[in-house]
Amino acid sequence: MCAALAGAFAGREVINLADAAHKTRDLSGIDYALVWKPHADLFERATDLKAVFSGGAGVDHVLNLPGLPDVPLVRFVDRSLTTRMSEWAVMQCLMHLRQMKAYDAQQRKAVWNPLSQPEAREVTVGVMGLGVLGQDAAFKLQIMGFNVIGWSRTKKELKGMETFDSGALDAFLAQTDILVGLLPLTDDTRGLFNLALFKTLRQGGALGKPVFVNAGRGGSQVEADILQALDEGILGGASLDVFEAEPLAQDSALWSHPGIFITPHTAADSDIRSLFAHVEEQIERHENGLPLEHTVNRKLGY
Ligand SMILES: NC(=O)c1ccc[n+]([C@@H]2O[C@H](COP(=O)([O-])OP(=O)(O)OC[C@H]3O[C@@H](n4cnc5c(N)ncnc54)[C@H](OP(=O)(O)O)[C@@H]3O)[C@@H](O)[C@H]2O)c1
Repeated sequence: MCAALAGAFAGREVINLADAAHKTRDLSGIDYALVWKPHADLFERATDLKAVFSGGAGVDHVLNLPGLPDVPLVRFVDRSLTTRMSEWAVMQCLMHLRQMKAYDAQQRKAVWNPLSQPEAREVTVGVMGLGVLGQDAAFKLQIMGFNVIGWSRTKKELKGMETFDSGALDAFLAQTDILVGLLPLTDDTRGLFNLALFKTLRQGGALGKPVFVNAGRGGSQVEADILQALDEGILGGASLDVFEAEPLAQDSALWSHPGIFITPHTAADSDIRSLFAHVEEQIERHENGLPLEHTVNRKLGY
């Protein structure tokens, strides 16, 4: 981080609180804070903040920070992060479409056994969360040929895509073969991906059984229910980048389940230089009297 900081925020004083020398430093008069997992006493010490910037696209953990002041909270939105999330989502959907779990198992046993192969257009991918990340992933999945539908709190008009608002969840799930979760963690989305929901996904589509893919937040999924749904044949596979507790416990049954692809919350990392550039841009907007972008609605929690 220090190397990235060296070239950032030209003309401004920057205090790196990871530096032990600043542990007890007076932070009154500091205008802006960029936070990820800050010291517990940050907001007691920095009493004059004009805005707080989240180091990530998600803000669930920032909203829970003790003493978070009532100033604008800005989340991280970045072209590169968005692109990498779409790469991950497209890759996971293609891995399930092209039965890579089954071929990997066959390869380990030197088995030459071609499986029947549906085309992407026969498979409906339902994207839950049509924000910055969900919309980009949805369009890129469409380019790969999937039939894509989307669900969000407020209904969206997206070219060539059937969309649903939160009241039409059952209708959306009933058409979905691969469910892609790109939702923030809020009171409304906590535990949403559970057995009851998996049971309402379409059975008997081109993949046989539905698949669950999640890169939003682990708190939205019930991992015991994912395992039960896989073992009972309600789900045919899963791809998980996020978990109820991270890092995923060594003894979690998710690791060794033959139907699950796991990545360690790396679907779309925040690039530190891009993050600093985004914060600099927003500070300049603010100081030039323009509204901050990507501010969080605290009532909604995202
Ligand atoms: N795994 C990773 O590496 C990684 C990286 C970055 C981000 N993330 C996660 O991805 C999440 C999404 O990011 P984003 O930038 O796309 O967020 P965003 O632009 O704020 O979009 C959030 C979407 O979720 C929808 N939504 C929120 N609550 C809902 C509810 N209760 N019911 C239905 N829809 C709901 C919103 O609906 P409306 O459109 O109606 O507002 C919106 O479409 C982040 O919050 C973060 O947790 C993960």
